[in-house]
Amino acid sequence: MVEHRWPDVDGLLYGGDYNPEQWPEQVWPQDVQLMQEAGVTLVTVGVFSWALLEPTEGRYEFGWLDRVLGLLHEGGIAVDLATATASPPPWFSLAFPDSLPVTEDGVRLAWGSRQAYCPSSTAYRRAATRLAGAMAERYGRHPAVRMWHVGNEYGCHVAHCFCDTSAAAFRTFLQDRYGDLVTLNAAWGTAFWSQHYSAWEQVIPPRASPTHRNPTQQLDWWRFGSEALLELYRAERDVLRTLTPHLPVTTNFMAPGFKAADYVAWAREVDLVANDHYLLGADPAPMVDLALGADLMRSVGAGAPWLLMESSTSAVNWQPHNLAKPAGQLRRNALAQVARGADGVLFFQWRASRAGAEKFHSGLVPHAGTDTKIWREVVDLGQELAGLADVVGTRVQTQVAILWDYEAWWAVELDSHPSADVTYAAAVRRTYEALWRAGITVDFVHPEGDLSAYRMLLAPSLYLLSDAGARALEAHVRDGGSLVVSYFSGVVDSNDHVRLGGYPGALREVLGVQVEEFFPLLPAETLALSNGATGSRWSELLMLRGAKALASIESGPLAGVPALTRHSYGRGNATYLATDLDPAALGRLLLEELEQAGLEPVAPAPPGVEVVRRGSFLFVINHTSDDAVVAGTPVPAGGATVLRGA
Ligand code: GLA
Repeated sequence: MVEHRWPDVDGLLYGGDYNPEQWPEQVWPQDVQLMQEAGVTLVTVGVFSWALLEPTEGRYEFGWLDRVLGLLHEGGIAVDLATATASPPPWFSLAFPDSLPVTEDGVRLAWGSRQAYCPSSTAYRRAATRLAGAMAERYGRHPAVRMWHVGNEYGCHVAHCFCDTSAAAFRTFLQDRYGDLVTLNAAWGTAFWSQHYSAWEQVIPPRASPTHRNPTQQLDWWRFGSEALLELYRAERDVLRTLTPHLPVTTNFMAPGFKAADYVAWAREVDLVANDHYLLGADPAPMVDLALGADLMRSVGAGAPWLLMESSTSAVNWQPHNLAKPAGQLRRNALAQVARGADGVLFFQWRASRAGAEKFHSGLVPHAGTDTKIWREVVDLGQELAGLADVVGTRVQTQVAILWDYEAWWAVELDSHPSADVTYAAAVRRTYEALWRAGITVDFVHPEGDLSAYRMLLAPSLYLLSDAGARALEAHVRDGGSLVVSYFSGVVDSNDHVRLGGYPGALREVLGVQVEEFFPLLPAETLALSNGATGSRWSELLMLRGAKALASIESGPLAGVPALTRHSYGRGNATYLATDLDPAALGRLLLEELEQAGLEPVAPAPPGVEVVRRGSFLFVINHTSDDAVVAGTPVPAGGATVLRGA
């Protein structure tokens, strides 16, 4: 992020996506009145309005939006104005059929849902930047407008397009990266399986092919995909920056679950980090995912306050089973985001739709109207957040960080690996959850980022590690830090080539171990360890090369082989987990590590009670069905409290 910029609105932002075009005009004044009742301060307008704003090519109909913005301004509601380019209208797709995205199997997708465009389509880019410019010219000085919302959730439905236009753009990306085919052939290891390229036109996206596609080609495709989407965002942003330099510009991320955009890189391109977070009904502990996403957003924005751009007041519509939020959960979820650095809580969407694919998605104003649980909670939350205005701008600080790298994520989940069960987000989640349960707030940091603030770093299955990243981790330990690495880390370099001499190549020396061979486990298989813990998913034929064993495997082909090790290196310590510990054992091990590093939670709390310090505020959120007492203050079951000056 070049320079953090925030919309000119007092207090914590509160509101959501407002889609007035779905409603008769008579409803609009009532909307504004209800927004005032709820304490709404900011609404996002126009995200999916392209088809109405430009009903035929080059003919704009701004009248309705003029009236909407006028009403909002009169009502004292600020606007996060969308460039309206998230979804091109049917006339566009019909006129520019080559702009429609193509799947890896060669199927060209049709319009009729949303976001049906190829990220590399020049027709789309031209039309989108033209609309963004028209929006900026018409509304850039409107007194209600305080920030720009470019596109929407880039890549949400179409992260990659495999058409010929994308193939050409991919080649340009590769030419920039490698310069010539000799270098590309070496990086991709094309001596294998007769893949050598002798002319650029032979180089294509990893389209459907008889069997495993070249791994480095696939990795580069992920790199290219993130960059192609980012270029689209930048093209609109640059138009806006030229015409309206006074307004901050952003777009909404989808962390932590979204894999196709490298948000570490994206965060450098937005004036403020904004995120959309929805709970997954299938997640047994969704508040952990919520916290993880929040910590990640704070971290990619270098600790600056960020904006929760979208969340739901209750159920969503896009999961197999869309769970409603019981009374109290809306408040807990919102406060948990503020606790972890959000300076605004917005929802999708203001009024629950009557028609369309999202008609069963909750809103701030539900179908049943205002004499409802949701509306009462919305009004109460608005009041509570208004009372927390002094939280704005305060920071969350911690000395513990999980290493986070989208390239490592892409690489570890490629095919043809020792086990399909080693996935990145799940590995990070297990580590994060153990720390969450221990009451430790976590930052996320890229291995080549600024590690200096952290006493403890954790690397869950960080399969790909650059030379610079490996050196930084070594230096961290040598200088007295602690490092906790779990299996299948440091195995390959940035080209996805194996580091020779034994695993975990890049971290062998700092960990003081050498692994000869991986012994992944079948899904139902477990290993008993000598410390009473259980391992699953993974094991390795590991030799100690300076480290000491903390626990060994008890039985089976690797009986007696160390599974947990610790190595004193320089002034620090590096611990290695060569199997997937059961959650209780992982929790115990991390508590020991934390204790050794002199780190403790901000306040002792019963299990399931989340405590986070932000500036001088202590947020206490009780996710359990028992009353609790934290820092001498009672927090009822399912309740939350914010302690000041704590
Ligand atoms: C995303 C989109 C919104 C809406 C919500 C539904 O966040 O940005 O337009 O579809 O999901 O949860």
